[in-house]
Amino acid sequence: MARLPIKTAMKVEKEFLGKTFDDFLLRPQRGLVSSRRQVDLTSRLSRHYDLSLPIVSANMDSVTGGVMAQALALEGGVGIIHRGMSIEEQAREVGQIKRSHGYIVEKPFCLPRNATIREARLFTRKHHITGILIEEALGSQRLAGLLSNRDMPWFEGHEDRRVEEFMTPVDRLVTGSPGISMAEAERMMFERRIEKLPLVDKDRHIRGLISKKDLILTRQRPYSSKDKKGRLLVGAAVGAHGDYLERAAELIHGGADILVIDIAHGHSDVMKKAVEAFRKRFAETELICGNVGTGEGAAFLKELGADGIKVGIGPGRGCRTRLETASGVPQLQAIREAWCAIEDSVPLIADGGIKDDKDIFMALICGASSVMLGSMLSGTDEAPGHVIVDPASGQKKKLYRGMTSPQAVLEVLYDTEHPEDLEEALATPAEGQEMQVPYKGSVVDVLRRIRGHLASSVSYAGGGTLCEVRAKVVRDPMSYLIVLSEASRRESYER
Ligand code: XMP
Repeated sequence: MARLPIKTAMKVEKEFLGKTFDDFLLRPQRGLVSSRRQVDLTSRLSRHYDLSLPIVSANMDSVTGGVMAQALALEGGVGIIHRGMSIEEQAREVGQIKRSHGYIVEKPFCLPRNATIREARLFTRKHHITGILIEEALGSQRLAGLLSNRDMPWFEGHEDRRVEEFMTPVDRLVTGSPGISMAEAERMMFERRIEKLPLVDKDRHIRGLISKKDLILTRQRPYSSKDKKGRLLVGAAVGAHGDYLERAAELIHGGADILVIDIAHGHSDVMKKAVEAFRKRFAETELICGNVGTGEGAAFLKELGADGIKVGIGPGRGCRTRLETASGVPQLQAIREAWCAIEDSVPLIADGGIKDDKDIFMALICGASSVMLGSMLSGTDEAPGHVIVDPASGQKKKLYRGMTSPQAVLEVLYDTEHPEDLEEALATPAEGQEMQVPYKGSVVDVLRRIRGHLASSVSYAGGGTLCEVRAKVVRDPMSYLIVLSEASRRESYER
């Protein structure tokens, strides 16, 4: 009897079927670079953004809050702030990043001259700032002076006095014009030995603030991820129903560069409706959508107009989808399928299942343009949550959990002020789990290690840049990859 052809739109090479990262090694090529430091790792994040380190931190409440997103952007990646908090809180986290480290703070925080020292102290603590611009009257935006931490009395008894008594008044302040260049600002601040340079127009209206600390950081990290105005890049996640458009509006208003519509099953009518409604209101916003695990899914999101596509159904460490539903696609197959379906027309973000630095390289050369990391970045200082000490072993740990783990679901419901959804949530079986992961210190060290290993991988692949190596392998992977047997896998990875 003639066999029926398998009905599939898949274009993927047969070697990738059922495969994931540990199934392949790269055949080493003749090396060209003399130093790993020369290797350029720039890759695409989405239609309009590149990253100098193609790492994205996962929008999970045990991975990416504002602190993590800031660290990622400073190192050349980008963080996607999770949505398991109120709209105001998430927009505040976004705003804080946009205000930090760009060499010009566009909308600096201000207090009126009649504010008290007590109010000023609370204000600096709340906004994590070291100096406050003082305006003539609340909301006037007319510069009256500058109150730095040094100006504030450090001893008690002055709490009810007004800030105008302690500030440096505007006639003694050095100010710059709104269009000042970075070089000119640096020269002025150095010559006048000042740490903060308020920018004002001819009517003394506040138009920005430059601080020495930010100028130094900008110089120290030329590879950090920035928007057109030199501010750190940041993304934020929204869902696909409920108040997601309202959330999106606030996040965009707060300065988010990229929004991510993140749902478990992105190849769905729910996603279609969500993207269509989103695009009606926010035509210009960079939008990443996911997750999908097939070529058809990637083509579907491309058709909807996504600027970036997240690929991964069930590979995540905190994820139980495959265990509970028998659905999913081995992650390297998913990446390859998605690439074969849409090639580089829309950049792919490989999301989930990355356990080692080598997996990042494999994901990139097989079709992803960047990778999203959850568990690999969890357990670091910058991940939300406290360090716990295991009483038995004395080892330091932090919590990592899937966003549909019972613990995360409950906390998110309370934090987002929708406890009315509680019963439905409790009745929905979990597809995520919580676990303890070893405490890892600063994420900066993790990212620098990844950078070093990726640069070595590029060198073994016989190129000088990630882009060049990827372009070569992605078009013809089976000329560069070796499929491992059980024995060669043991030889490679068991130590
Ligand atoms: P890694 O392996 O880097 O994966 O820790 C991070 C990704 O896992 C996904 N994620 C989940 N998937 N149930 C799931 O099926 C969950 O509860 C869950 N939480 C996170 C998500 O794509 C993340 O980026």
